[in-house]
Amino acid sequence: MTKKVVIDCDVGVDDALALILAFHSPELEVKAVTGVNGNVPLDTVFTNIQKMLSFIQPACKPLIARGANQPLKGETIHAHSVHGQDGLGGAKIQCEDGKTWWQNYPRHASELILEMAHQHPDEITLVAVGPLTNLALALKQDPAGMKKLKELVIMGGAVRTRGNVTPYAEFNIYSDPVAAKIVFESGIPITLVPLDVTHQVFLTPRWMEEKAKPLNTPFSNFLIEATGYDIETHRFRNRDTIFLHDPLAVAAVIEPTLVKMERLSLQVEIQDGEYYGKISEVKKGPEIDVCLGVDAERFLELFVSGLR
Ligand code: RIB
Ligand code: CA
Repeated sequence: MTKKVVIDCDVGVDDALALILAFHSPELEVKAVTGVNGNVPLDTVFTNIQKMLSFIQPACKPLIARGANQPLKGETIHAHSVHGQDGLGGAKIQCEDGKTWWQNYPRHASELILEMAHQHPDEITLVAVGPLTNLALALKQDPAGMKKLKELVIMGGAVRTRGNVTPYAEFNIYSDPVAAKIVFESGIPITLVPLDVTHQVFLTPRWMEEKAKPLNTPFSNFLIEATGYDIETHRFRNRDTIFLHDPLAVAAVIEPTLVKMERLSLQVEIQDGEYYGKISEVKKGPEIDVCLGVDAERFLELFVSGLR
C-alpha cells in the first residue's frame, strides 16, 4: 500500500533533494506540492517547484499551488546565504522539454491542502518542510477539514539542541511561530523532525567522492551542483557541512523505523524577544512525537538510492 502524501515546501536546496527522494520512492504517492514563503520568496519557491518537477518528470503529475508569501505575524526572513539567490544553490536544471509535469491548482495552497484532506479522508500524510503558514491558514479556514488528514510530519524546531537562526529557534518555526503554535495545537497527529535529529546526519566531502560522484546520474550531479561541492578541491564551496533536514522528514514517512521518537508536550514561544520561535517542553501541552534519534547509515543509503 503506497502512502498518499502532500508536500508543503519552501524550495531551497534541501527541499529540492526531499522532492527527488519523495518522487523516487515507490512507497509514496505524491498527490500535491504546495509552496510557501521561506528560504526564498514565494515566487522563487514556486518557480523552483516547477523546475524540480520538470527535472524529476513524475508520471503521476501532482497538483501544485502557491501559498503564503509572508508569515501570519512578524518580519519575513529568507535564507539566501544558504540556498543562493535562486534557492537551488545555482544548480542548472537540464530538462526543459517544454512539457508540463504538473497540474496547476488555481486557488491558494491552503485550499488545495483542504481539498486533498476531504477527497482522501484519513489517508493523507502532509509533509511540511517549510514555515507552517499554509497549514495555519487551512486550519483557520476549516479546522474540521484539516482533521481529516491522517498526520503531519513537520521538519522544524530545536527541542533539546541549539537553534540555527537564534540560539533557541530553528528557521521554519522562527519564520512563523504563530502559525506553528496554531498547527501544534490543532489536535492532528504530529511527528516533528527537529534539528535534534537532522543535525545527526550530514554530507561530507568523502561521502560525495565515494557515494555521489560515482553515480553520475542527473540527480547525483544536481546534488553536487546544488550543494556547491567542488570536485577539484574536494570541498563544499560555501559551507563545511551539508545537512539533509527535509530529506530526513520525507525518509521518516517512507521508513518510520529509521527514526527514534519520544512523545513530548511542546509549546512555541510567540512573544517577541530572545526566545521568539523557541520550542519548549512543558508539563501540559500538545503531545507531539519528536524524532530524537536516527539510523544515519540506513537513512543515507535510502537517500542515495533516490539519486539513481
Ligand atoms: O532549519 C532547516 C529548515 O529551514 C529546512 O527546511 C530548510 O529548507 C529551511 O526551510
Ligand atoms: Ca525547507
